Amino acid sequence: MIKNYKEAFEKTRSAGLIAAGALDEVAKIVRPGISTEEIDRLCYEYLNDHGAYSAPLFYRGFPKSCCTSANHVVCHGIPSNKILKGGDIVNVDVTALKEGWHGDTSRTFEIGEVSIKAKKLVQTTYEAMMKAIKIIKEDIRIGDIGETIQTHVEAQGFSVVQDFCGHGIGQQFHKDPNVLHYGKKGTGEIIKEGMIFTIEPMINLGKFETKILNDGWTAVTKDKSLSAQFEHTIGVTKDSYEIFTLSKN
Ligand code: MF3
Ligand code: CO
Ligand code: CO
Repeated sequence: MIKNYKEAFEKTRSAGLIAAGALDEVAKIVRPGISTEEIDRLCYEYLNDHGAYSAPLFYRGFPKSCCTSANHVVCHGIPSNKILKGGDIVNVDVTALKEGWHGDTSRTFEIGEVSIKAKKLVQTTYEAMMKAIKIIKEDIRIGDIGETIQTHVEAQGFSVVQDFCGHGIGQQFHKDPNVLHYGKKGTGEIIKEGMIFTIEPMINLGKFETKILNDGWTAVTKDKSLSAQFEHTIGVTKDSYEIFTLSKN
């Protein structure tokens, strides 16, 4: 067990609620015709209005307040004047920094009516994340999380991205452990009460390989297939877990 984690949980809860609240606002405005820059502006303002900073803004030179990753973009898409159109899927990833603590969460939104395949991908990605969250308690292993996600995803014929993973989080944005979204039960680091980390599977319709575009950030699927992602920040308790980034709605 990690000692005296109550304050860490309280602070992460408060940051997490703000990040989730920003995504609730995004949900209200995402529709065909909106630009990803407009989503970014909304996130910036929401965080600001709630006494938080955007952790991504200027993080290792990242230029915006959230990541907007559409269609074949796996993660770290940079908001721009790109207009979203009906049939697109877009992940919006928000990390609030409040009183020195981080809350990190993302959701994939469907723009207008999307294809049955895209719907299935988005739904499966969400299910995989939730299935993995539900097994969390002290003394499970990182590999238990990975296998739970991989098994669910591959049963649908989709693939798990291996180049990016979930991460420990707290006063640092990214820290140990690496939370792989694939793997084998009974392997990897043992999870302890009081740990805080994200689970954020990126799932591809085609193959799992990714590459980074010339902007140095945007990760895309090599085969240009669609990719979806969801993310929650989780705290480990003795017999269970707490999701810090649940929507209040
Ligand atoms: N929020 C992302 C994560 O889930 C990290 C974004 S870092 C940025 O870890 F610099 F790209 F914004
Ligand atoms: Co994260
Ligand atoms: Co994130």
